[in-house]
Amino acid sequence: MATKLTRRSFAKLTGSVPLTASATQVAAQTSSSKPADPSPDERARETEQKMTDDERFSLLISLMGAVAAVGVPRDKRIPEGVSMSAGYTPGVPRLGIPALQSSDASMGVTNPGYRPNDKGATAFPASIAVGASFNPQLAHEGGAAIGREARMRGFNIMLAGGINLTRDPRNGRNYEYYSEDPWVSAVFGAEAVNGIQSEGVISTLKHYVLNCNETNRHWLDAIIDPAALRESDLLAFQIAIERSQPGAIMSGYNKVNGTYASGNSHLLNDVLKGAWGYKGYAMSDWGAVPAWDYALSGLDQESGIQLDVMQWGAEAFTDRLRAAYARGKFPKERLSDMVRRILRSAYAIGIDRWGPAPTLDMAKHNEIALEISRQGIVLLKNDGVLPVATGGKLKIAVIGGHAQEGIICGTGSGAVLPVGGFAGVVKIGGPGIMGGGRNMFLIAPSPLAELTKLLPDAKFEFDPGYTPAEAALLARRSDLVIAFGIRVEGEGFDNADLSLPWGQDAVIDAVANTNPNTVVVLETGNPASMPWRGKVRAIVQAWYPGQAGSQAIAEVLTGTVNPSGRLPITFPLDLAQTPRPGLPGLGTPWGTPITIRYDEGAEVGYRWYAQKNQKPMYAFGHGLSYASFSYRELEVQGGETVTAAFIVTNTGARAGTDVPQVYLTAVNGDERLRLLGFGRIALQPNESKRVSVEADPRLLARFDGGAGRWRIAAGRYRVAVGRSAQDLALSADVQLSARLFGV
Ligand code: BGC
Repeated sequence: MATKLTRRSFAKLTGSVPLTASATQVAAQTSSSKPADPSPDERARETEQKMTDDERFSLLISLMGAVAAVGVPRDKRIPEGVSMSAGYTPGVPRLGIPALQSSDASMGVTNPGYRPNDKGATAFPASIAVGASFNPQLAHEGGAAIGREARMRGFNIMLAGGINLTRDPRNGRNYEYYSEDPWVSAVFGAEAVNGIQSEGVISTLKHYVLNCNETNRHWLDAIIDPAALRESDLLAFQIAIERSQPGAIMSGYNKVNGTYASGNSHLLNDVLKGAWGYKGYAMSDWGAVPAWDYALSGLDQESGIQLDVMQWGAEAFTDRLRAAYARGKFPKERLSDMVRRILRSAYAIGIDRWGPAPTLDMAKHNEIALEISRQGIVLLKNDGVLPVATGGKLKIAVIGGHAQEGIICGTGSGAVLPVGGFAGVVKIGGPGIMGGGRNMFLIAPSPLAELTKLLPDAKFEFDPGYTPAEAALLARRSDLVIAFGIRVEGEGFDNADLSLPWGQDAVIDAVANTNPNTVVVLETGNPASMPWRGKVRAIVQAWYPGQAGSQAIAEVLTGTVNPSGRLPITFPLDLAQTPRPGLPGLGTPWGTPITIRYDEGAEVGYRWYAQKNQKPMYAFGHGLSYASFSYRELEVQGGETVTAAFIVTNTGARAGTDVPQVYLTAVNGDERLRLLGFGRIALQPNESKRVSVEADPRLLARFDGGAGRWRIAAGRYRVAVGRSAQDLALSADVQLSARLFGV
């Protein structure tokens, strides 16, 4: 089983300690005189040798549970009594191989209509909120809680660990991903996986790779320079795999440079299993396998096989793969390899050795959800109106966003049914296979209720934001306006632009024109355009904050909690600033082949804006506090990599937590922006602490496609520490020697 998070392993998270195990640890592992237990590889080999071909083939597919919204009926191959889930693979009881059962897990253990009797799970904040906390330990704790809730349901595979980079601020699934930065994505994805696997449950990392838009995702050809891919999305996977050893990797729906990711031998065989030596198994996304020969290209398991019938007209890894086997086109060695990889993950993570299910402490899980939303909320703007003074007899207008009912979450396979059910469900719909399940889910308690608790002397009134004129009437007779802006984003859909739906921008504009004391709270998975930005006094980015999100929002607004989240994704001024002002394929009917060129290559997000000299609305890493922080005494050391140390001081009047960020800004005078690491430091007023960050050397290097290795050029590396990618306070130079390393 995976290890618990120790002080030392946590110290590694921000990059301050080398990744390799210490010499003492290795010696302790090898000097034991007891005969060693067979390794997961040995066990997998032994078991696989005892299997019949029928048993071998039975492990190569998973069956999706019945879901009315997607039009999938109950499959007779799922035995009676087996609870419905995203994927079911029968076990082989005579050999002690358990059935495999998977569930989605981006925001908790999901139930997109699978199990009518499910009592609900903890609805955690979205991954983008976890990323915004810049606190990897929270990803670990959330992961472990998800692992426990999965075990209670008998699910031994979590489809978690979404680490696609947020390349496009319209991507409907960015809420399921952590960041636009490869290092942040890798560290958080790895900790989510480590948390889940510490409970003896397999986790995926997904969607391998470059599944960065939802529009016509099954027909999307994502084009990118191969070396740039190694330095960006693939680097996130590489580092996350090293740090967490996930049992499975889920391949994406899209093509990469002309070949479907699930049948892409270069990505699966050469890179994942070859260069990186990955020992687990590659499962497809649901409905991503048109052909049996994907098995030859490195895919080990066909998932949710009924969706392949809906999508491509046939199953791939059942009769067709068996026919190829009979004809000698599909070698026995590869069949054995696929089976062994699946068994190896089962043994390495221990899903065959489960004892009794852990007792669940749902109150503790709620505390974890609460802490993530507290730390993930980002205060974007504040001219001093926040925190709202408690104790006053203020007349406060709460406007829009269903803030009298609950908070919203993302839609799609990641939606979680909370304990007690949803406070409301509004059907949205839309074209394509995901349209039927595209809903606005409301999760109680409401922000209005939580604000009322924390401000008992204030007089609250609610207006639904039905029309601008009506909302302005309430704004006029109030001392303070708290307006909620929401946008349901989700799987299968990209946002057509960055505006808020249902006329909310006009409502916010009208109330801000009427009452200058307006604060806006946003529940979105992506940047919003905020045309009213200059008229409001404060803006709070709450993302999809999960079941305890309303409490966290109220705590941040009233100052019970000092905000400490930072943007893990750049908020552009408008789409014209982004690499693709127009999104290819947007608006084409479901089923239209489309091509998106990710010509920004490795210059994703903040790197792009720096390269183009663009000043975004809010930079990557930005986030305000009710305290303030200063930096001094930056010292940078070279060698195999770069280590930066500096002192952070709380110069404000109240306790707060800072997230100082260390960037590479130039190499031999050429600008190149790369986040090298970050800290997360709690400080009392006037308190100072020293922070040290050691960079993963790949963040300083370029990938040399010819050599298949990382290359550090000799020369002068400029390193800076700052509050965001565009607010750098100190910088220093360090000399590095030329070096070729890694793969
Ligand atoms: C999604 C995956 C998910 C799978 C199973 C697919 O539509 O892309 O992320 O894990 O469904 O629900």
